[in-house]
Amino acid sequence: MTNILVVNSSALGPHSVSKALVDSTVEKLKVSSPDAKIVVRDVGASPIPHMTADNVVPEPETEGQKAARKLSDDVIGEVQDADIIVIGAPMYNFGIPSTLKAWFDHLLRAGVTFRYTEAGPEGLLKGKRAIVVLSRGGLYSEGPLQVLDAQEPHLNALLGFVGITDVTYVRAEKLAFSPEDREASIANAQTEVHAVASKVAAA
Ligand SMILES: Cc1cc2nc3c(=O)[nH]c(=O)nc-3n(C[C@H](O)[C@H](O)[C@H](O)COP(=O)(O)O)c2cc1C
Repeated sequence: MTNILVVNSSALGPHSVSKALVDSTVEKLKVSSPDAKIVVRDVGASPIPHMTADNVVPEPETEGQKAARKLSDDVIGEVQDADIIVIGAPMYNFGIPSTLKAWFDHLLRAGVTFRYTEAGPEGLLKGKRAIVVLSRGGLYSEGPLQVLDAQEPHLNALLGFVGITDVTYVRAEKLAFSPEDREASIANAQTEVHAVASKVAAA
């Protein structure tokens, strides 16, 4: 059985472009794996807390520390269990939403999801495939704003650091340029997620 983890991070709920594309991706994955187990972590609809002092103690003792550790353990466990991870990541102020950054802050834990070796850091979440849907008002994959893209490189670094290196990105860009651009971009991204989902499911 294939385990699919879905991580959404748009604050726009039913109006979210990335979430709609993530939903299409999952529907397509389900065609190849009808019995897939799907776990959804929507940090846009239900944000998880940012790091506090309770998160960084080596051994949790207080109730607050134990609750903080449990949340982090749950986030890590969901990724450990997943064969395929589908992430919806809108661009907010050139980067990822702070809710998604908080999710990564819980996920990246030394000794558990990565470790330091004499040869440098090593990601411990190996053998997983990821599809990341990026939604943006502007155009960043080419042109003058490319240099401002702190969304895709950051995601690539975070995922790669924990060993998730088989990552396919689908970009819905120019969503704020004009209604025509928006419609065309979403249609192109829909076509692309179908192709990507078929490829990833077959891998
Ligand atoms: C708080 C906020 C910040 C945004 N910042 C940017 C930005 O820096 N660059 C950009 O191209 N679009 C930006 N946008 C537009 C979103 O990337 C665009 O609306 C996208 O569709 C959001 O994804 P979603 O529809 O899945 O929520 C921003 C939107 C919001 C709500």
